[in-house]
Amino acid sequence: MEQIVISGTGVFTPEESITNEELVRAYNEYAENYNLANKNKIDLGEKVALELSNEEFIFNASGIKNRYVMDKKGILDPNIMHPILDKRTNDQPSILAEMSLKASKDALDKAGKTPDDIDAVITACSNLERAYPAISIEVQELLGIKGFAFDMNVACSSATFAIQAAADMIRSGSANTILIVDPEICSGHLDFKDRDCHFIFGDVCTAMILEKKDTANSNNCFEILSTKCITQFSNNIRNNFGFLNNAKKSSPLDRDLLFMQEGRKVFKEVVPMVSQLIIDHLYEEKIEIEEIKRLWLHQANKSMNDFIGKKVLGRVPEDHEQPNILQDYANTSSAGSIIAFSLYSQDMKSNEVGVLCSFGAGYSAGSIILRKVS
Ligand code: COA
Repeated sequence: MEQIVISGTGVFTPEESITNEELVRAYNEYAENYNLANKNKIDLGEKVALELSNEEFIFNASGIKNRYVMDKKGILDPNIMHPILDKRTNDQPSILAEMSLKASKDALDKAGKTPDDIDAVITACSNLERAYPAISIEVQELLGIKGFAFDMNVACSSATFAIQAAADMIRSGSANTILIVDPEICSGHLDFKDRDCHFIFGDVCTAMILEKKDTANSNNCFEILSTKCITQFSNNIRNNFGFLNNAKKSSPLDRDLLFMQEGRKVFKEVVPMVSQLIIDHLYEEKIEIEEIKRLWLHQANKSMNDFIGKKVLGRVPEDHEQPNILQDYANTSSAGSIIAFSLYSQDMKSNEVGVLCSFGAGYSAGSIILRKVS
């Protein structure tokens, strides 16, 4: 079978960031203003009062300390509580395409490639900015890439599912060298007025170059030994935003048009599902657990990753074996495991094996077994 490698990765990190302290201060000011405005109802015993958020809770429950965002001012204004982004004309690059370009240039440089070497672009992310034309086709145009492009969405598993799709496409001959971009403006789908989840997400964009091993000349290449993707329907992470909202007479401010989750249920159901996926995948590929030198896991919750790492390795993983980027980036949906891979893969030695794994809404989970190329 044709050997396919990831020959370069790139990360675009937004300039602005928000600490837990700043986020909690803004939320608590919003909640106090809300409670003051609803004082009469509260005094009459109606249960409408908002409870205050708490930095300690956030760090202990999630492992998150900070998140990067495309607009800090709007999110932290207690009278606004969402990012404010420019409304661009159709002649200007869209914001997702712009982020994708920055991450792509980083990935192309690392892979030692130019846009002329690429013949397909996949944009794989949780939230696409518009219905059409595809963001990937805009990225293709902005980079001057020939060939074809398409968008895909499998929520937090978009990037790993895209790796499987791209590797299969290269093997079957429909493309030779593929650029995957994962632009995630998660602050756009997050309700910063909801104490249970206002701390969860951050913004970022990652990019990857996939090609045949024979054409790769980067010094940090990972062969894709095997991919395994699974899905299982669940409503526990859901966002009802879509093109039928108008027809269904939804109001743009309806709560269900942003991210919603049953965090506890997700935690309980996804941890065993993902641990088993990785264990089964390694077993099917006849790879011993002891051979696994690194787990680049989806970055949603530190305790979740600790459970998964322990279950897969059969012991508590060392910090370097299972890198966390949550404390800096928060949950960046499909991009999280790719950031971890991009930042913590250079030190691996030839032939060492690791597993890149994402999981999230759907439910969906993707496991990619990678071996460092000598
Ligand atoms: N500040 C202070 N207290 C808070 C709070 C906040 N920001 N948010 C919730 N709480 C309170 C709750 O009201 C609850 O209080 P109660 O016990 O009096 O009812 C308590 O803290 C525990 O809340 P809970 O939601 O059960 O916390 P948790 O330990 O499950 O942590 C998550 C919440 C979301 C961090 C965690 O469930 C999680 O990460 N789950 C997985 C989510 C995931 O992977 N999603 C995929 C997204 S793509």
